[in-house]
Amino acid sequence: MHLGIFADATTAAAAAARVILEEAARKPSFTLGVATGSTPEPLYAHLRQAHSEGRFSLENSHAFALDEYVGIAEDHPERYRNVLRRELVGSEKTGLTDELLHTPDGSAADPYEAAANYDSLIKEVGGVDVQILGIGADGHIGFNEPGGSLVSRTHVEALAAQTINDNARFFDNDTAKVPSRCITQGLGTIMEARTLVLLAFGANKARAIAELVEGPMSAYWPATIMQMHPNVVIVTDEAAASNLKLTELYNERWAMAFGN
Ligand code: PGA
Repeated sequence: MHLGIFADATTAAAAAARVILEEAARKPSFTLGVATGSTPEPLYAHLRQAHSEGRFSLENSHAFALDEYVGIAEDHPERYRNVLRRELVGSEKTGLTDELLHTPDGSAADPYEAAANYDSLIKEVGGVDVQILGIGADGHIGFNEPGGSLVSRTHVEALAAQTINDNARFFDNDTAKVPSRCITQGLGTIMEARTLVLLAFGANKARAIAELVEGPMSAYWPATIMQMHPNVVIVTDEAAASNLKLTELYNERWAMAFGN
């Protein structure tokens, strides 16, 4: 694991963007795994900037979302497909086309079938090269909440109370408006991406980051499965790194891999 601790979210997101740009440059048919929530916003700003300067394009790339709410109205601004369209789709954003943006079908009559189909589609296009991840305060990645299988495939999940509370800010601060179910890539699905880039900002992520980096692997902190992945880059601000014990070692390892 490589962990970079930065003064603020913008600088940390710039480091994450560099990893993505390098991987995209290496591969003609680059596939990006995309996340939603507040965390990736500064990263997407860097990717849009790089696109506007001709240094990056998702024009011929597939992008796969981690998750989608079940039963949310198709025109709801917080439907993740709509969030990702606003952030990434179009020549004035990152060049990503709507056709190649894939999100689990949260409106499907049978969400279980939609989940299985989504998992198959990721395989069909050759898998994800770089998967962008945020982390929940309860240690979820995607919407894989505590106590699930560490090898799960894309599946229908129930949101934890903590997540519903955290996401109420996107739904008029009303927990009753937050959908209680979702379709999420499973931990086994996420682990098949060739590189995982996780971002975390703010003190409310400090416990989850400490568990992810220094805790024992456990279904109670789902992100800890990433300890089994050979190619993980984590970028945080200082607040999210504030519970870590071995920061000097992580800084040294980061400098060795990426410079300062
Ligand atoms: P956030 O969500 O970026 O809005 O904090 C992260 C997550 O739940 O994965």
